[in-house]
Amino acid sequence: MLTRRNLLRAFAMAPVVGALGPLGTRALSATSWKRAFDSALAENPRLLGWQGVTEPRLAAPNLPVTGALPPGLTGTFYRNGPARHERAGHRYRHWFDGDGMVQAFRFDEGNVSHQGRIIETAKYMAEERAGRHRFPAFGTTGRDSPPLRGPDDLNTANINICHHGGELLTLWEGGSAHRIEASTLETLGRKTWSEDLKGIAFSAHPKAEPDGTLWNFGNVVSRGLLVLYHIASNGRFRKTGAVPVEHLGMVHDFVVTARHLVFVLPPLVYDETAFGPNVSFLDSHVWRPELDTRVLVVAKDDFSDRRWYRLPAGFAFHFGNAWEDPTGNIHFDYCAAPDATVLTETLRYVMRGEFRPPTEPTRFAQVTLNASGDAVQDISSVSAEFPRVAPAVVGRRYRQVYALTGVAAPRTRPTAGSSARRSISGNG
Ligand SMILES: [Fe+2]
Repeated sequence: MLTRRNLLRAFAMAPVVGALGPLGTRALSATSWKRAFDSALAENPRLLGWQGVTEPRLAAPNLPVTGALPPGLTGTFYRNGPARHERAGHRYRHWFDGDGMVQAFRFDEGNVSHQGRIIETAKYMAEERAGRHRFPAFGTTGRDSPPLRGPDDLNTANINICHHGGELLTLWEGGSAHRIEASTLETLGRKTWSEDLKGIAFSAHPKAEPDGTLWNFGNVVSRGLLVLYHIASNGRFRKTGAVPVEHLGMVHDFVVTARHLVFVLPPLVYDETAFGPNVSFLDSHVWRPELDTRVLVVAKDDFSDRRWYRLPAGFAFHFGNAWEDPTGNIHFDYCAAPDATVLTETLRYVMRGEFRPPTEPTRFAQVTLNASGDAVQDISSVSAEFPRVAPAVVGRRYRQVYALTGVAAPRTRPTAGSSARRSISGNG
């Protein structure tokens, strides 16, 4: 187990994302991506959602309501995601690259209003001043970027948003959370949990237990470290630790049980030597199925108490939930893909207006990690993503998982590809 001091030293020594230069050679220029997208959009207006915003603020005081809202429904529903994909004719080459925008849908006595505001990250503000893209993004190389001081120079704060300990936090995967003022959506600055964790990744899918306790991790991929966070319900930082992981790569989400943290590590491995002026951070990852998918279990009360399991090679973005039975077996579910093409192809080329579906859809899967050391996985036929459970059962035994699933439309209908919500039964 690394100490916090050692962790800080390791992070400080981590090579800041490599030298930056002209556009990548793997694809056409970002300007031609804009031309390709504009041309596709003219033919297919359903691509409008990928065009992105040009204004930093949106406001609609009275949204049209179809049907009837449940009586007494009041409050605010916050969303976050990449929203600004272009600047000065330059278009990003991955859906995950755009500047984040917080959106607030406020429900009040039958009225619904909408407010959106771009998150004023250091990257956004620097590029706003420059009037053009400069820094690299997750899937796009930089353009005449200044030297980078750390991951937060690339932070677009565009993945998720959570409310915890009285703070509204927008989340990214490779760097700090950003604090947001809940009513104005003003960006208040980067969140620092403790001075020695300043700037270290705080991932985008923290898990809040029923009592409000928050667990999270940060992936310091360049040093092969998973940093763990334990935060009290009032937002007070409790403890951290770092787990060295060989062949570390993309880790987007995780699950917790009453006693353990569970990480699934797909074999999409970061290759530090690949990253450079012509290769984006995403393209610096290598698919290595011979490594299998590894599962790491860490005890909450002792981060040095770890167990490893193996599953067939596959890729995962999101998890539903996990629980632990009296014999010590851990059960969890997630959405499993056979490989990472959804990340490396589908979510990239949609920015050109092209739909390149993954080799197979992501499917709802259930896993049991036996205390004896075996892992058993059951991948269902149900295509699913974004699984969620009720907050009251996070880390506890549960009966239902809710997920999005795609439903093929009848061929006679011209609007193919519609989607629907469907509930999916989870572990009993
Ligand atoms: Fe996610």
